[in-house]
Amino acid sequence: MAIRKVGVVGCGLMGGGIAQTCAQSGYETVVCEVSQHLLDKGLTRIYAAWDMMASKGKISQGQLEENRSRLHGTLAMEALADCDLVIEAVIENMEEKLRLFPALDHILKPGALLLTNTSSLNVTQMGAVTKRADKVCGLHFFNPAPVMKLVEIVRTISTSDETLETVREFALSLGKTPVLAKDTAGFIVNFLLIPYLLAAIRMLENGMASRDDIDAAMKLGCGYPMGPFTLLDYVGLDTTMWAAEAIYDEYKDPLYAPPPLLRRMVQSGMYGKKSGRGFYTYE
Ligand code: 3HC
Repeated sequence: MAIRKVGVVGCGLMGGGIAQTCAQSGYETVVCEVSQHLLDKGLTRIYAAWDMMASKGKISQGQLEENRSRLHGTLAMEALADCDLVIEAVIENMEEKLRLFPALDHILKPGALLLTNTSSLNVTQMGAVTKRADKVCGLHFFNPAPVMKLVEIVRTISTSDETLETVREFALSLGKTPVLAKDTAGFIVNFLLIPYLLAAIRMLENGMASRDDIDAAMKLGCGYPMGPFTLLDYVGLDTTMWAAEAIYDEYKDPLYAPPPLLRRMVQSGMYGKKSGRGFYTYE
């Protein structure tokens, strides 16, 4: 199946990054948000990234303008009706997803693929509330979506071979390397990454080392681009907590139980870089 027009639901950190990636890869892209304020905020971030790319000479002025002309923001979900493939990237809340999926199923044309960027929630359940479960799968991007080379394709029991092949080709066309994961909580990356991040928080809670020393240790000792606290702030403490809770719900493995410090910080609105404060403070 040929993909020409892509829809993205949600223009936050992930949805915006995904919409940017699709538009700059040549797809007509419609990104849908729930309020003008959130849409403007998301589009401003995308335009700033393109301006930065142009100023570094990575894209020409002409490409910048083409990218902009391919990207359309909307508050009306009906604008996704003629998309060939739609990627849901709203908040990591199952109730929200289970409300959204039947609504999208109703709006989308027959044959359109319906994908979720969920980092750890049950994709099978999302497909099951639609009449196109064979056309539903996960396509999980990593933050920052335009830069990180990996996507996880998550296959449910109902996803068809044809859907998988189309999504694999689509991922390659975005310049990504796809890996295939079963629909089990955390897929591949978060199943491994979340225990590491939570262990760093527990080390800090228990006074085993300082924030800066833990970050320096993992950056310089293991060659990671960011230490765990910088990465937690970058990904979002709220997002990390939701992912941890979802995996904990499935396995009841204490490795995935959010530490009290993480909960308290999220309860205090300390979400990391996006809220100006997490383990570090941002201007
Ligand atoms: N669009 C286009 N290009 C962008 C961009 C954007 N939105 N954001 C950054 N870039 C480019 C920069 O222009 C720069 O390009 P250049 O090297 O050609 O100049 C390049 O990306 C690197 O950016 P910076 O120079 O600003 O900064 P760094 O060199 O420190 O790299 C980083 C930043 C890529 C974020 C790097 O620190 C990194 O890889 N960190 C780890 C990120 C990570 O692990 N992400 C996965 C998190 S887990 C997740 O997302 C899953 C979820 O479910 C929880």
